[in-house]
Amino acid sequence: MNILAIETSCDETACAVVSDGVHELASVVASSKELHEATGGVVPEIAARKQIEFVIPVIEQTLKKISSSVKEVKNSIDALAVTTGPGLIGSLLVGVEAAKALSLAWGKPIVPVNHLMGHIYANFVERGPKKEITFPCAALVISGGHTDLILLRSHGNFDYIGGTLDDAAGETYDKTARLLGLTKYLGGAELSKLAATCEKNLAQGKLPRPMLDQDNFDFSFSGLKTAAKRLIESNRFPVDSVAREFEEAVGDVVITKTIRAAQKFNCKQILVGGGVSANQYLRTRITAEALEKNVEVLVPPLDLCTDNAVYIASAAFFNYNPKPFKQIVANPSLGIMDLA
Ligand code: KG4
Ligand code: ZN
Repeated sequence: MNILAIETSCDETACAVVSDGVHELASVVASSKELHEATGGVVPEIAARKQIEFVIPVIEQTLKKISSSVKEVKNSIDALAVTTGPGLIGSLLVGVEAAKALSLAWGKPIVPVNHLMGHIYANFVERGPKKEITFPCAALVISGGHTDLILLRSHGNFDYIGGTLDDAAGETYDKTARLLGLTKYLGGAELSKLAATCEKNLAQGKLPRPMLDQDNFDFSFSGLKTAAKRLIESNRFPVDSVAREFEEAVGDVVITKTIRAAQKFNCKQILVGGGVSANQYLRTRITAEALEKNVEVLVPPLDLCTDNAVYIASAAFFNYNPKPFKQIVANPSLGIMDLA
């Protein structure tokens, strides 16, 4: 089954065609990121206007990657999928309405998808040898806006086991990167690059590991963010050590609690997804530490960590449930447990 998916939840405009939820046939992503770098954060109005500007060209380019004949593409598509939330309302509306228009014109069913579930399904996309995913598995969604742990019992059957009580890990990365004078917008990757240059962490143990010793699967990053701010402002340690210490503090909490969750629920696998899953330190360390407990970690290829439509098509295939138009509604505040 070929699914054409559209994703416009924030500042990326994406379209993809995926076969049987695992084989990527075409994918195009446009971004308005540079515009938000100037203001140090996404301006929702600007993001929405760019979505309107990009959505048709992005869909067109995706179709062209399949065939130069639109009729041929149409005949090869079985269903459409679209992200309905969470995200920015103005941005979401553009994708939702574009998908409905295409569905009407082509007479194809349409599957609404929760963006957070999409991030998890990036692990189902096959780029190399066939992947075996064994249920139950623990899934960690770690992105700019969310840090959630869920137990995936089977497709469409999952339980929330924990998550952040305040800020998301990605947001904490971004704020700390800004305080370190790296970039004003989405500085997680820059912070990580700086940390990688640190040969000796002179700030070892200077940041807290919030909620690490609590017997639950929740996180809290706002205190860590404040502690990082104080540490930076004290000028007592070189910036590379502060970056290293910050990355270790986030890693200690996120990795330890995710592995504990996998063990408690008898999971043989952990699936990680979301923008922060592109973090090399996190990828390497969680993989090694889980392996010591006989748990395998799956992380998406780097280009499937940040927003795109490939994983939206994959989530739609494995949770195939088309809906009538009136039930396909953009909802900026969908949680991970909400159906799209
Ligand atoms: O999933 P995503 O593209 O957008 C949301 O749905 O939120 O995630 C964006 C987040 C940002 O906070 C960005 O700084 C972070 O992912 N990020 C990273 C890295 N690459 C992206 N954080 C740490 N290390 C990275 N390499
Ligand atoms: Zn995302």
